[in-house]
Amino acid sequence: MDYKVNAGGCLRGQITVPGDKSISHRVVMLGAIAEGVTEADGLLEGADVLATIAAFRSMGVRIDGPRQGHLRIEGVGLHGLRAPADTIDCGNSGTAMRLLTGLLAGQSFDSTLTGDDSLRRRPMGRVLTPLAQMGAEIHAQDGRAPLHIHGRPLRGIHYDLPVASAQVKSAVLLAGLYATGDTCVREPAPTRDHSERMLQGFGQSLRVDGAQRCLSPGAHLRGQSLRVPGDISSAAFFLLGASIAAKSDLLLEGVGINPTRTGIVEILTRMGARIDLLRLREVGGEPVADLRVRHAPLRGIDIPARLVPLAIDEFPAIFIAAAAADGVTRIRGAEELRVKESDRIAVMAAGLRSLGIVVEELADGAIIHGGALGAGEVDSHGDHRIAMAFAMAGLIARGPIHIRDCANVATSFPNFPELARAAGLDLEVQSS
Ligand code: S3P
Repeated sequence: MDYKVNAGGCLRGQITVPGDKSISHRVVMLGAIAEGVTEADGLLEGADVLATIAAFRSMGVRIDGPRQGHLRIEGVGLHGLRAPADTIDCGNSGTAMRLLTGLLAGQSFDSTLTGDDSLRRRPMGRVLTPLAQMGAEIHAQDGRAPLHIHGRPLRGIHYDLPVASAQVKSAVLLAGLYATGDTCVREPAPTRDHSERMLQGFGQSLRVDGAQRCLSPGAHLRGQSLRVPGDISSAAFFLLGASIAAKSDLLLEGVGINPTRTGIVEILTRMGARIDLLRLREVGGEPVADLRVRHAPLRGIDIPARLVPLAIDEFPAIFIAAAAADGVTRIRGAEELRVKESDRIAVMAAGLRSLGIVVEELADGAIIHGGALGAGEVDSHGDHRIAMAFAMAGLIARGPIHIRDCANVATSFPNFPELARAAGLDLEVQSS
Protein backbone atom coordinates (compact mmCIF):
# COMPACT_ATOMS: atom_id res chain seq x y z
CA MET A 1 0.00 0.00 0.00
CA ASP A 2 1.28 3.45 -0.97
CA TYR A 3 0.44 7.03 -0.08
CA LYS A 4 0.23 9.92 -2.49
CA VAL A 5 0.26 13.30 -0.77
CA ASN A 6 -0.66 16.33 -2.84
CA ALA A 7 1.26 19.44 -1.97
CA GLY A 8 -0.11 22.28 0.10
CA GLY A 9 -2.73 22.77 2.78
CA CYS A 10 -2.46 23.19 6.51
CA LEU A 11 -3.59 21.38 9.66
CA ARG A 12 -6.47 22.85 11.64
CA GLY A 13 -9.16 21.80 14.11
CA GLN A 14 -9.10 19.30 16.95
CA ILE A 15 -8.13 15.62 16.79
CA THR A 16 -7.54 12.72 19.18
CA VAL A 17 -4.63 10.45 18.34
CA PRO A 18 -4.84 6.72 19.25
CA GLY A 19 -3.67 5.27 22.54
CA ASP A 20 -0.03 4.96 23.49
CA LYS A 21 1.60 1.88 21.98
CA SER A 22 4.14 1.30 24.76
CA ILE A 23 1.49 1.61 27.46
CA SER A 24 -1.01 -0.56 25.55
CA HIS A 25 1.48 -3.46 25.30
CA ARG A 26 2.21 -3.22 29.00
CA VAL A 27 -1.47 -3.18 30.03
CA VAL A 28 -2.00 -6.43 28.15
CA MET A 29 1.10 -8.06 29.64
CA LEU A 30 0.55 -7.02 33.25
CA GLY A 31 -3.21 -7.56 33.02
CA ALA A 32 -2.59 -11.13 31.84
CA ILE A 33 -0.28 -12.06 34.73
CA ALA A 34 -2.21 -10.14 37.40
CA GLU A 35 -4.90 -11.63 39.60
CA GLY A 36 -8.43 -10.54 38.75
CA VAL A 37 -9.85 -8.48 35.94
CA THR A 38 -8.08 -5.62 34.17
CA GLU A 39 -10.13 -3.20 32.08
CA ALA A 40 -8.49 -0.68 29.79
CA ASP A 41 -9.98 2.14 27.73
CA GLY A 42 -8.26 4.09 25.00
CA LEU A 43 -6.12 1.08 24.08
CA LEU A 44 -4.27 1.25 20.76
CA GLU A 45 -5.89 -1.23 18.36
CA GLY A 46 -2.78 -1.33 16.15
CA ALA A 47 -1.30 -4.53 14.75
CA ASP A 48 1.60 -4.49 17.24
CA VAL A 49 -0.70 -4.52 20.27
CA LEU A 50 -3.02 -7.06 18.63
CA ALA A 51 0.02 -9.36 18.33
CA THR A 52 0.61 -9.09 22.08
CA ILE A 53 -3.08 -9.79 22.76
CA ALA A 54 -2.95 -12.87 20.49
CA ALA A 55 0.19 -14.08 22.30
CA PHE A 56 -1.56 -14.10 25.69
CA ARG A 57 -4.72 -15.67 24.26
CA SER A 58 -2.52 -18.48 22.97
CA MET A 59 -1.25 -18.92 26.55
CA GLY A 60 -4.76 -19.41 27.92
CA VAL A 61 -5.67 -15.86 28.96
CA ARG A 62 -9.28 -14.82 28.28
CA ILE A 63 -9.28 -11.39 26.65
CA ASP A 64 -12.42 -9.63 25.33
CA GLY A 65 -11.93 -6.88 22.77
CA PRO A 66 -10.44 -4.57 21.87
CA ARG A 67 -13.68 -2.84 20.90
CA GLN A 68 -13.52 0.93 20.45
CA GLY A 69 -10.43 0.96 22.61
CA HIS A 70 -11.95 -1.11 25.41
CA LEU A 71 -10.22 -4.30 26.52
CA ARG A 72 -11.12 -6.72 29.32
CA ILE A 73 -8.50 -9.21 30.52
CA GLU A 74 -9.15 -12.03 32.97
CA GLY A 75 -5.75 -12.21 34.62
CA VAL A 76 -4.42 -15.71 35.36
CA GLY A 77 -1.89 -14.70 38.01
CA LEU A 78 1.91 -14.80 37.81
CA HIS A 79 2.02 -18.59 37.43
CA GLY A 80 -1.19 -19.15 35.48
CA LEU A 81 0.05 -18.93 31.87
CA ARG A 82 -0.10 -22.15 29.84
CA ALA A 83 2.30 -23.38 27.15
CA PRO A 84 1.30 -21.92 23.78
CA ALA A 85 0.36 -24.55 21.18
CA ASP A 86 2.18 -22.65 18.42
CA THR A 87 5.01 -20.27 17.77
CA ILE A 88 4.13 -16.75 18.96
CA ASP A 89 4.24 -14.25 16.10
CA CYS A 90 5.21 -10.77 17.29
CA GLY A 91 4.73 -9.31 13.80
CA ASN A 92 6.62 -6.02 13.45
CA SER A 93 6.85 -5.36 17.18
CA GLY A 94 10.19 -5.14 18.97
CA THR A 95 8.40 -4.26 22.20
CA ALA A 96 6.27 -7.42 22.04
CA MET A 97 9.27 -9.61 21.34
CA ARG A 98 11.74 -8.16 23.84
CA LEU A 99 9.29 -7.82 26.73
CA LEU A 100 7.76 -11.25 26.11
CA THR A 101 11.24 -12.79 26.09
CA GLY A 102 11.79 -11.48 29.61
CA LEU A 103 8.37 -12.56 30.76
CA LEU A 104 8.61 -16.06 29.28
CA ALA A 105 12.21 -16.89 30.27
CA GLY A 106 11.18 -17.93 33.79
CA GLN A 107 8.00 -19.87 32.96
CA SER A 108 7.62 -23.59 33.57
CA PHE A 109 7.10 -24.20 29.82
CA ASP A 110 8.91 -23.64 26.54
CA SER A 111 7.91 -21.14 23.86
CA THR A 112 9.14 -19.80 20.53
CA LEU A 113 8.91 -16.18 19.37
CA THR A 114 9.20 -15.00 15.80
CA GLY A 115 8.25 -11.94 13.77
CA ASP A 116 8.21 -10.37 10.32
CA ASP A 117 11.31 -9.82 8.13
CA SER A 118 12.11 -6.50 9.83
CA LEU A 119 11.82 -7.91 13.35
CA ARG A 120 13.88 -11.01 12.48
CA ARG A 121 16.72 -8.68 11.44
CA ARG A 122 16.73 -6.71 14.70
CA PRO A 123 19.22 -7.39 17.53
CA MET A 124 17.91 -9.52 20.37
CA GLY A 125 21.31 -10.14 22.02
CA ARG A 126 20.66 -7.06 24.16
CA VAL A 127 17.93 -8.96 26.04
CA LEU A 128 19.51 -12.41 25.75
CA THR A 129 22.72 -11.31 27.54
CA PRO A 130 21.14 -10.17 30.84
CA LEU A 131 18.58 -12.98 30.76
CA ALA A 132 21.38 -15.55 30.36
CA GLN A 133 23.01 -14.03 33.45
CA MET A 134 19.74 -14.72 35.26
CA GLY A 135 19.98 -18.38 34.24
CA ALA A 136 17.68 -18.26 31.20
CA GLU A 137 18.11 -20.70 28.35
CA ILE A 138 17.20 -19.06 25.07
CA HIS A 139 18.42 -20.12 21.65
CA ALA A 140 18.73 -17.64 18.79
CA GLN A 141 20.59 -17.46 15.49
CA ASP A 142 23.26 -14.74 15.55
CA GLY A 143 21.29 -13.00 18.31
CA ARG A 144 18.20 -12.78 16.13
CA ALA A 145 14.70 -14.27 16.16
CA PRO A 146 13.24 -16.85 16.05
CA LEU A 147 13.92 -17.20 19.77
CA HIS A 148 13.49 -20.62 21.36
CA ILE A 149 12.89 -20.11 25.06
CA HIS A 150 13.30 -23.04 27.45
CA GLY A 151 11.52 -21.84 30.54
CA ARG A 152 13.53 -22.41 33.71
CA PRO A 153 14.10 -21.00 37.19
CA LEU A 154 15.84 -17.63 37.20
CA ARG A 155 17.94 -15.75 39.75
CA GLY A 156 17.93 -11.99 40.24
CA ILE A 157 20.81 -9.87 38.91
CA HIS A 158 22.18 -6.36 39.08
CA TYR A 159 22.48 -5.27 35.48
CA ASP A 160 24.04 -2.10 34.05
CA LEU A 161 22.41 -1.55 30.67
CA PRO A 162 25.03 -0.89 27.96
CA VAL A 163 22.40 0.87 25.80
CA ALA A 164 19.63 3.23 26.87
CA SER A 165 16.71 0.92 26.08
CA ALA A 166 13.33 0.77 27.79
CA GLN A 167 12.70 -2.58 26.15
CA VAL A 168 15.80 -4.14 27.71
CA LYS A 169 15.08 -2.54 31.08
CA SER A 170 11.51 -3.83 30.96
CA ALA A 171 12.50 -7.35 29.83
CA VAL A 172 14.89 -7.71 32.79
CA LEU A 173 12.33 -6.34 35.28
CA LEU A 174 9.62 -8.69 33.96
CA ALA A 175 12.01 -11.64 34.24
CA GLY A 176 12.77 -10.42 37.77
CA LEU A 177 9.14 -11.08 38.74
CA TYR A 178 9.95 -14.79 38.29
CA ALA A 179 13.46 -14.81 39.78
CA THR A 180 14.74 -15.68 43.23
CA GLY A 181 16.28 -12.66 44.91
CA ASP A 182 16.26 -9.02 43.88
CA THR A 183 16.63 -7.79 40.32
CA CYS A 184 18.16 -4.36 39.71
CA VAL A 185 18.73 -2.50 36.46
CA ARG A 186 20.70 0.70 35.97
CA GLU A 187 20.28 2.72 32.79
CA PRO A 188 22.95 4.93 31.19
CA ALA A 189 20.35 7.63 30.40
CA PRO A 190 16.66 7.99 31.29
CA THR A 191 14.31 6.01 29.03
CA ARG A 192 10.52 5.68 29.07
CA ASP A 193 9.38 4.54 32.50
CA HIS A 194 5.95 3.10 31.69
CA SER A 195 6.89 -0.37 32.99
CA GLU A 196 7.98 1.05 36.33
CA ARG A 197 4.83 3.16 36.68
CA MET A 198 2.53 0.33 35.69
CA LEU A 199 4.22 -2.33 37.81
CA GLN A 200 3.69 -0.05 40.79
CA GLY A 201 0.10 0.60 39.74
CA PHE A 202 -0.51 -3.16 39.71
CA GLY A 203 0.96 -3.49 43.22
CA GLN A 204 4.58 -4.50 42.60
CA SER A 205 6.79 -2.24 44.68
CA LEU A 206 9.91 -0.90 43.05
CA ARG A 207 12.84 0.88 44.61
CA VAL A 208 14.04 3.76 42.46
CA ASP A 209 17.43 5.23 43.33
CA GLY A 210 18.79 7.60 40.69
CA ALA A 211 19.29 5.56 37.53
CA GLN A 212 18.72 2.24 39.33
CA ARG A 213 15.43 0.36 39.70
CA CYS A 214 15.16 -2.73 41.90
CA LEU A 215 12.32 -5.13 42.53
CA SER A 216 11.89 -7.99 44.97
CA PRO A 217 9.71 -10.78 43.64
CA GLY A 218 6.83 -12.27 45.61
CA ALA A 219 4.23 -9.51 45.33
CA HIS A 220 0.82 -10.29 43.87
CA LEU A 221 -0.11 -8.16 40.88
CA ARG A 222 -3.74 -7.06 41.08
CA GLY A 223 -5.95 -6.31 38.07
CA GLN A 224 -6.63 -2.61 37.44
CA SER A 225 -8.96 -0.34 35.50
CA LEU A 226 -7.14 2.32 33.58
CA ARG A 227 -7.26 4.66 30.65
CA VAL A 228 -4.42 4.74 28.11
CA PRO A 229 -3.33 8.28 27.15
CA GLY A 230 -2.90 9.35 23.52
CA ASP A 231 0.46 8.42 22.02
CA ILE A 232 2.86 11.37 21.84
CA SER A 233 4.78 9.42 19.19
CA SER A 234 1.67 9.52 16.98
CA ALA A 235 0.93 13.13 17.93
CA ALA A 236 4.49 13.95 16.80
CA PHE A 237 3.55 13.80 13.11
CA PHE A 238 0.86 16.41 13.70
CA LEU A 239 3.20 18.57 15.79
CA LEU A 240 5.54 18.46 12.81
CA GLY A 241 2.89 19.08 10.15
CA ALA A 242 1.23 21.98 11.94
CA SER A 243 4.62 23.55 12.72
CA ILE A 244 5.80 23.56 9.11
CA ALA A 245 2.56 24.38 7.25
CA ALA A 246 1.53 28.05 7.15
CA LYS A 247 -1.86 28.91 8.72
CA SER A 248 -1.94 25.73 10.80
CA ASP A 249 -3.57 25.76 14.25
CA LEU A 250 -4.30 22.30 15.64
CA LEU A 251 -5.39 20.96 19.02
CA LEU A 252 -4.33 17.41 19.94
CA GLU A 253 -6.52 16.21 22.76
CA GLY A 254 -5.42 13.93 25.64
CA VAL A 255 -1.78 13.26 24.73
CA GLY A 256 0.58 11.55 27.18
CA ILE A 257 3.36 13.92 28.27
CA ASN A 258 5.41 11.59 30.45
CA PRO A 259 8.75 13.46 30.81
CA THR A 260 10.61 10.42 29.41
CA ARG A 261 8.68 10.91 26.14
CA THR A 262 8.53 14.68 25.58
CA GLY A 263 11.88 15.10 23.80
CA ILE A 264 9.98 15.93 20.60
CA VAL A 265 8.25 18.91 22.23
CA GLU A 266 11.55 20.24 23.55
CA ILE A 267 13.39 19.70 20.25
CA LEU A 268 10.69 21.34 18.11
CA THR A 269 10.37 24.20 20.60
CA ARG A 270 14.15 24.78 20.44
CA MET A 271 13.76 24.91 16.65
CA GLY A 272 11.18 27.68 17.05
CA ALA A 273 7.89 25.74 17.14
CA ARG A 274 4.85 27.14 18.94
CA ILE A 275 3.50 24.34 21.11
CA ASP A 276 1.35 24.98 24.19
CA LEU A 277 0.57 22.33 26.82
CA LEU A 278 -2.99 22.90 28.04
CA ARG A 279 -5.24 21.28 30.68
CA LEU A 280 -2.47 19.28 32.38
CA ARG A 281 -3.91 16.27 34.23
CA GLU A 282 -3.17 12.67 35.20
CA VAL A 283 -4.65 9.62 33.44
CA GLY A 284 -3.84 6.00 34.33
CA GLY A 285 -0.80 7.05 36.38
CA GLU A 286 0.60 9.08 33.47
CA PRO A 287 0.66 12.88 32.91
CA VAL A 288 -1.56 14.04 30.03
CA ALA A 289 -2.27 17.37 28.32
CA ASP A 290 -3.95 18.85 25.28
CA LEU A 291 -1.31 20.12 22.87
CA ARG A 292 -1.99 23.22 20.78
CA VAL A 293 0.41 23.69 17.90
CA ARG A 294 0.52 26.62 15.52
CA HIS A 295 2.65 27.29 12.48
CA ALA A 296 6.01 28.93 13.18
CA PRO A 297 9.22 29.29 11.18
CA LEU A 298 11.75 26.63 12.25
CA ARG A 299 15.53 27.03 12.45
CA GLY A 300 18.24 24.36 12.43
CA ILE A 301 19.81 23.35 15.77
CA ASP A 302 22.34 20.96 17.25
CA ILE A 303 20.15 18.42 19.00
CA PRO A 304 21.43 17.91 22.56
CA ALA A 305 22.49 14.28 23.08
CA ARG A 306 20.50 14.03 26.31
CA LEU A 307 17.27 14.50 24.32
CA VAL A 308 17.95 11.59 21.96
CA PRO A 309 16.52 8.76 24.17
CA LEU A 310 13.60 11.02 25.12
CA ALA A 311 12.64 11.42 21.45
CA ILE A 312 13.96 8.11 20.11
CA ASP A 313 10.88 7.25 18.02
CA GLU A 314 10.44 10.79 16.75
CA PHE A 315 13.54 11.12 14.56
CA PRO A 316 11.71 10.49 11.28
CA ALA A 317 9.59 13.56 12.14
CA ILE A 318 12.68 15.47 13.33
CA PHE A 319 14.48 14.80 10.02
CA ILE A 320 11.55 16.39 8.17
CA ALA A 321 11.46 19.34 10.59
CA ALA A 322 15.19 19.81 9.97
CA ALA A 323 14.68 19.73 6.18
CA ALA A 324 11.97 22.39 6.54
CA ALA A 325 14.07 24.55 8.86
CA ASP A 326 16.27 27.48 8.02
CA GLY A 327 19.91 26.40 8.47
CA VAL A 328 21.62 23.21 9.53
CA THR A 329 20.48 20.58 12.05
CA ARG A 330 22.96 18.15 13.57
CA ILE A 331 21.83 14.83 15.05
CA ARG A 332 24.53 12.88 16.93
CA GLY A 333 24.57 10.04 19.46
CA ALA A 334 21.58 8.44 17.74
CA GLU A 335 23.12 5.17 16.47
CA GLU A 336 20.12 3.31 17.93
CA LEU A 337 18.13 4.65 14.96
CA ARG A 338 19.96 2.13 12.80
CA VAL A 339 18.27 -0.83 14.55
CA LYS A 340 14.66 0.36 14.63
CA GLU A 341 11.92 -0.97 12.32
CA SER A 342 14.32 0.10 9.54
CA ASP A 343 17.74 1.78 9.52
CA ARG A 344 16.11 5.16 10.09
CA ILE A 345 19.29 7.17 9.43
CA ALA A 346 19.86 5.59 6.02
CA VAL A 347 16.19 5.49 5.00
CA MET A 348 15.45 9.10 6.05
CA ALA A 349 18.64 10.35 4.38
CA ALA A 350 17.77 8.56 1.12
CA GLY A 351 14.17 9.80 1.18
CA LEU A 352 15.13 13.42 1.85
CA ARG A 353 17.79 13.35 -0.85
CA SER A 354 15.25 12.14 -3.37
CA LEU A 355 13.21 15.27 -2.53
CA GLY A 356 16.25 17.49 -3.08
CA ILE A 357 17.50 17.99 0.49
CA VAL A 358 21.23 17.82 1.28
CA VAL A 359 21.89 15.27 4.05
CA GLU A 360 25.26 14.08 5.33
CA GLU A 361 24.87 10.65 6.87
CA LEU A 362 26.95 9.90 9.99
CA ALA A 363 27.41 6.58 11.78
CA ASP A 364 25.45 7.94 14.74
CA GLY A 365 23.18 10.53 13.13
CA ALA A 366 23.04 13.04 10.30
CA ILE A 367 23.66 16.63 9.32
CA ILE A 368 20.61 18.00 7.51
CA HIS A 369 20.69 21.20 5.48
CA GLY A 370 17.30 22.90 5.45
CA GLY A 371 16.01 23.64 1.96
CA ALA A 372 13.08 23.51 -0.42
CA LEU A 373 11.33 20.13 -0.56
CA GLY A 374 10.62 19.00 -4.09
CA ALA A 375 8.12 16.52 -5.45
CA GLY A 376 9.28 12.93 -5.67
CA GLU A 377 9.10 9.33 -4.64
CA VAL A 378 10.21 7.93 -1.28
CA ASP A 379 10.51 4.32 -0.12
CA SER A 380 9.49 3.93 3.53
CA HIS A 381 11.01 0.42 3.68
CA GLY A 382 7.89 -0.72 5.50
CA ASP A 383 8.65 1.58 8.41
CA HIS A 384 5.43 3.12 9.79
CA ARG A 385 7.01 6.23 11.25
CA ILE A 386 8.97 7.00 8.09
CA ALA A 387 5.79 6.75 6.02
CA MET A 388 3.92 9.16 8.32
CA ALA A 389 6.81 11.64 8.53
CA PHE A 390 7.08 11.92 4.74
CA ALA A 391 3.30 12.25 4.48
CA MET A 392 3.56 15.45 6.53
CA ALA A 393 6.39 16.70 4.30
CA GLY A 394 3.75 16.90 1.55
CA LEU A 395 2.26 19.97 3.27
CA ILE A 396 5.22 22.08 2.16
CA ALA A 397 6.54 20.24 -0.89
CA ARG A 398 6.49 21.84 -4.34
CA GLY A 399 4.56 18.90 -5.83
CA PRO A 400 3.15 15.50 -4.90
CA ILE A 401 5.11 13.00 -2.83
CA HIS A 402 4.60 9.29 -3.45
CA ILE A 403 5.46 7.14 -0.45
CA ARG A 404 5.96 3.43 -1.03
CA ASP A 405 5.24 0.52 1.34
CA CYS A 406 2.95 2.19 3.89
CA ALA A 407 0.88 -0.79 5.11
CA ASN A 408 2.79 -0.92 8.41
CA VAL A 409 1.33 2.42 9.48
CA ALA A 410 -1.39 0.09 10.83
CA THR A 411 1.08 -1.22 13.45
CA SER A 412 0.89 2.02 15.45
CA PHE A 413 -1.69 4.34 13.86
CA PRO A 414 -4.42 2.48 11.96
CA ASN A 415 -6.57 5.57 11.31
CA PHE A 416 -3.70 7.87 10.32
CA PRO A 417 -4.98 8.53 6.76
CA GLU A 418 -8.48 9.47 7.98
CA LEU A 419 -7.25 11.63 10.84
CA ALA A 420 -4.64 13.37 8.69
CA ARG A 421 -7.26 14.12 6.04
CA ALA A 422 -9.68 15.41 8.68
CA ALA A 423 -6.98 17.83 9.85
CA GLY A 424 -6.28 19.03 6.29
CA LEU A 425 -3.65 16.79 4.65
CA ASP A 426 -4.44 15.90 1.03
CA LEU A 427 -3.53 12.21 1.26
CA GLU A 428 -4.63 9.38 -1.01
CA VAL A 429 -4.14 5.72 -0.13
CA GLN A 430 -3.27 3.65 -3.19
CA SER A 431 -2.83 -0.08 -3.57
CA SER A 432 0.65 -0.85 -4.87
C1 S3P B 1 9.78 1.04 23.50
C2 S3P B 1 11.09 1.38 23.66
C3 S3P B 1 11.93 1.97 22.59
C4 S3P B 1 11.09 2.49 21.44
C5 S3P B 1 10.01 1.53 21.05
C6 S3P B 1 9.08 1.26 22.21
C7 S3P B 1 9.04 0.46 24.62
O1 S3P B 1 12.78 0.96 22.08
O2 S3P B 1 11.90 2.78 20.33
O3 S3P B 1 9.25 2.04 19.96
O4 S3P B 1 7.79 0.36 24.55
O5 S3P B 1 9.69 0.07 25.60
P1 S3P B 1 14.25 0.68 22.71
O6 S3P B 1 14.07 0.05 24.03
O7 S3P B 1 14.89 -0.25 21.71
O8 S3P B 1 14.93 2.02 22.75
